[in-house]
Amino acid sequence: MTVDSTDIERRQFLTGTAAVLGGLGAGVAAIPFVSTFQPSERAKAIGAPVEANIDQIEPGQRVTYKWRGKPVWIIRRTEEQLAALEQMRDILADPDSASSVQPEFAENSWRSLNQEYLVLVGICTHLGCSPSFRPLAGDVVMGADSVGGFYCPCHGSKFDLSGRVYAGVPAPTNMDVPPYKFLNESRILIGELAEGEGA
Ligand code: FES
Repeated sequence: MTVDSTDIERRQFLTGTAAVLGGLGAGVAAIPFVSTFQPSERAKAIGAPVEANIDQIEPGQRVTYKWRGKPVWIIRRTEEQLAALEQMRDILADPDSASSVQPEFAENSWRSLNQEYLVLVGICTHLGCSPSFRPLAGDVVMGADSVGGFYCPCHGSKFDLSGRVYAGVPAPTNMDVPPYKFLNESRILIGELAEGEGA
C-alpha cells in the first residue's frame, strides 16, 4: 500500500508512525505496494481479491493497493469535496456514469458504496497512463473552481474526485470502479461484490 497526502506534516506523522510500528522507516515509502494477509502473488495476478484497510486514511488522502496488476486507489473525500460533486455536472462528459466500467452501485455522483470513500482503478481510460492526484481546491492544473481531481499528463484528460471524465478531453469514459465490498467498517475487499450487488 502507498499513501498520498497534501499535508506534509501529516505525511511525516504517518511515516513516523509506520517507523515505530513496523521498524520499517523510510523503506515503507520506497516500497510501491505492501502485502498484508494477502493471497499469493500468483493468485493476485490472476484476480484474487485483495483486502484493504481504510481506518488510517485521513480526509483528503489517497492510498494505493494493487489488484490484478493494476493500481487501485482508495480516496477519503472531505465534506467539501463531496458537496462539490453534484455541482460538476455541466463540465462532465458522463456525470451519471452511464457508459463506464463499474458496478451498478456506482451510477451516481459519488460512485461508491460509502460516499466518503472512493475506490477507483488508477488508470486513464484514454491510453492507460496513470493520472496524478490533484486534491487541492483551486489547483492550477484542474482549474480555479476545482475542489480536486485527477489529471492525466499524457494527453491532458481531467477527472473529478469521483473519477468522472471532463467533457472535451481525450479520455472517452469515466475511470473504472472495480468490484468491491465492505468486510466491516474498516476493511474493504477489492475484487468481489457483496451478495445481491449487480456487476
Ligand atoms: S492516456 Fe490519459 S489522456 Fe491519454
